[in-house]
Amino acid sequence: MSEIAKIELGGTTYEFPVIEGTENEKAIDISNLRAATGYVTLDTGYKNTGATTSSITFLDGEEGILKYRGYPIEELAEKATFIEVAYLLIYGNLPTTTELEKFRSNITKHTLVHEDMKQFFEAYPAKAHPMGVLSSMVCSLSTFYPESLDPNRSPEAKDLTILRLLAKLPTLAAWAYKNSTRHPFMYPKNEFDYCKNFLYMMFAMPTEEFKVDPVVVDALNKLFILHADHEQNCSTSTVRIVGSSQANLYASISAGISALWGPLHGGANQEVIEMLEKIHADGGDVDKWVLKAKDKEDPFRLMGFGHRVYKNFDPRAKIIKKACDDILTKLGVNDPLLAIAKKLEQVALEDEYFKARNLYPNVDFYSGIIYKALGIPTEMFTVMFAIGRLPGWIAQWKEMTENKEPIGRPRQIYTGEVLRTYVPIEKR
Ligand code: CMC
Repeated sequence: MSEIAKIELGGTTYEFPVIEGTENEKAIDISNLRAATGYVTLDTGYKNTGATTSSITFLDGEEGILKYRGYPIEELAEKATFIEVAYLLIYGNLPTTTELEKFRSNITKHTLVHEDMKQFFEAYPAKAHPMGVLSSMVCSLSTFYPESLDPNRSPEAKDLTILRLLAKLPTLAAWAYKNSTRHPFMYPKNEFDYCKNFLYMMFAMPTEEFKVDPVVVDALNKLFILHADHEQNCSTSTVRIVGSSQANLYASISAGISALWGPLHGGANQEVIEMLEKIHADGGDVDKWVLKAKDKEDPFRLMGFGHRVYKNFDPRAKIIKKACDDILTKLGVNDPLLAIAKKLEQVALEDEYFKARNLYPNVDFYSGIIYKALGIPTEMFTVMFAIGRLPGWIAQWKEMTENKEPIGRPRQIYTGEVLRTYVPIEKR
């Protein structure tokens, strides 16, 4: 017999069905709450509210489990390529050799962006943050493909937009960086795979032969996989909610990029490195900074620590910490920030404040140290997160459109003035 939730209001008992997911997580289905009772729920920050059902990513914050389409993140990060994972997230299954080849070659065909877009880049100041540029450029893509404005035109049209976006995001991201250095843009080289091509467009110069250590390419592949999806977080919910108005995919992803930019979300990876640099420049006294983070009068927080859902450990952080050690050793990089990060983690994990609040290092804590070792400039860290997260956003948008979800439109509890009469300005 399925469970029923009962709510008593004004002497009347109302019943609501309990639904259960495939991993046994339970929810009270209150879709009918307002119609039945006249009440709404209040849950700022959506700490207890499921906004959708989804078959893409499963996350258990207590146990530190993360799976894409049923595959544990540890296995995918170890064995898969980012493009395979992108296919898995978007289309539901791992591709066969033929499917993968077709997907890869279709992406390759669309890596160029329209020449006119170069003028947009050139109009930005050199100091423009690349996340602002990326978000604008992705939205601008919609102006070059007017047929994409109707997201429901046909499954083929939808697939073409998806391929275009996957193909062009690394080009746009690398060009945002090139523009900030005022160096010439490098056109994609389609004989390279996805990650190597991105590194080529970022770092190659027309005057020199391009060489990249395979360790760097592998590291990027792993980081992109670890970032590829994370169920209903701030940016993904933004993509779904913007898409729910039937806005096109480019506009929806552009909104997701903007949501990711904030320091409490994807922007934390840039903040972590800046924090570690500050602690290093300040003499490396980790205890002092832990004290600051605990002081409620001080706005400082330990960036890269804490998570809304993970309350034991972030499985991505575990993989990244190990990868960080491996990659720095393989590349022969000795970064003093790594020692500070490890010390900070150790002190915080033994501290009552952090223990009581279940605050652990999250995915962003060590990823920045790897990006730094790969030569990626700090301002590009969140852009890297965005490239990694793109397949997840696309998969979530596609699922939302295919499930024909209604437009997202939360309720509120109004707390303002009830009724006032207009007073002419001279009498105020
Ligand atoms: N340093 C110090 N105190 C913290 C921190 C931190 N990093 N994170 C949370 N707390 C405290 C917070 O002050 C609060 O204390 P109290 O109960 O005494 O008021 C308690 O822990 C709960 O924090 P919260 O802000 O209510 O928790 P939340 O679930 O709303 O926020 C978070 C989660 C990730 C925004 C937050 O932990 C944070 O700001 N962390 C630093 C930023 C960061 O690393 N963000 C990246 C998240 S992972 C990448 C991604 O997927 O976005």
